[in-house]
Amino acid sequence: MIDFRDVTVSYPLPDGTVRKVYENLTLSIKQGEMAYVIGPSGSGKSTLMRMIYMDLKPDKGVVRVGEYRSDTITPKEIPYLRRTLGVVFQDFQLLPDRSVYENVAFALYATGKGGAAVKNRVMQVLGRVGLQHKWKRFPHEISGGEQQRVTIARAIANEPWILLADEPTGNLDPRVADEIQKLLISLHRQGMTLLMSTHDYRLVKKFPARTLALMKGQIVDVDAKTIGDVAKKGKGGRTVPAVTRSSAPTPAPRSVPTPRPMPPAAPSPGAPTTPKPTPGPAPDPTPPTLSRPANGHEEQETRKSTS
Ligand SMILES: Nc1ncnc2c1ncn2[C@@H]1O[C@H](COP(=O)(O)OP(=O)(O)OP(=O)(O)O)[C@@H](O)[C@H]1O
Ligand SMILES: [Mg+2]
Repeated sequence: MIDFRDVTVSYPLPDGTVRKVYENLTLSIKQGEMAYVIGPSGSGKSTLMRMIYMDLKPDKGVVRVGEYRSDTITPKEIPYLRRTLGVVFQDFQLLPDRSVYENVAFALYATGKGGAAVKNRVMQVLGRVGLQHKWKRFPHEISGGEQQRVTIARAIANEPWILLADEPTGNLDPRVADEIQKLLISLHRQGMTLLMSTHDYRLVKKFPARTLALMKGQIVDVDAKTIGDVAKKGKGGRTVPAVTRSSAPTPAPRSVPTPRPMPPAAPSPGAPTTPKPTPGPAPDPTPPTLSRPANGHEEQETRKSTS
């Protein structure tokens, strides 16, 4: 279970003031549940995710994620908490100089696994995302949708019970976004708790699930069918959120978000503040150096694609 109790969180600003993002937020997400988080740019979607992987602690209140609590977790325990989570970002955050295989294997090496166990697991999760045949490719040799599949494979490699997806389809066209969404939903149906932030109301309506809307430092459950009815298209194709629910006023749309650049070699702001390069929430403070996997994958060192 993910549980926020009376959580207040703010960011300090350079001028000495603070930007309060949530105030007395209370929210529960059950194990095995799927929920969307929607809200205007700057409303706190990524902040919510950061509090779940405990990259950011509340000023007040408690966040509980499974057996871990934000007020009692020790720095040593944080890597263990993060092994229970998989995180997928909008901008993929793959290691550009590593193959698909190595990008996924990295998550396993970081938790101390090695040898045949790594090879078997990498190929298994690549199979789950439909990319087994592209294990030798490099990120620049596959499409954006395929890159996002790799990040999903990496996120689920250590069998987390929660998958956090922060705008996972934000850089994808609608057809590919649908495919990624179906993949995420299939993982959820196999038992994973899925929390996904999105600006894409079309997706929320097409694949309805519990929908949490961020409003003025609070989160409310809304009816997925009613969202976006008065939404306008913003720059870059993003929808300016407009949420309706029976007992609340429609929030005023905030400024139109600026589209983010495509996947970087460098991590984007808001990513976990652990040593880089580290895919997803860094499993360990000092991940082991990537080594070439044994058992027949030596040929992956070549950049020549054979698939
Ligand atoms: N490190 C930071 N320092 C100061 N303010 C921050 C920091 N990170 C986020 N904020 C501010 O906190 C608020 C919430 O940011 P957050 O990134 O959670 O929004 P978001 O809903 O994820 O937005 P987007 O849809 O653009 O990704 C914003 O006003 C943002 O400017
Ligand atoms: Mg965000």
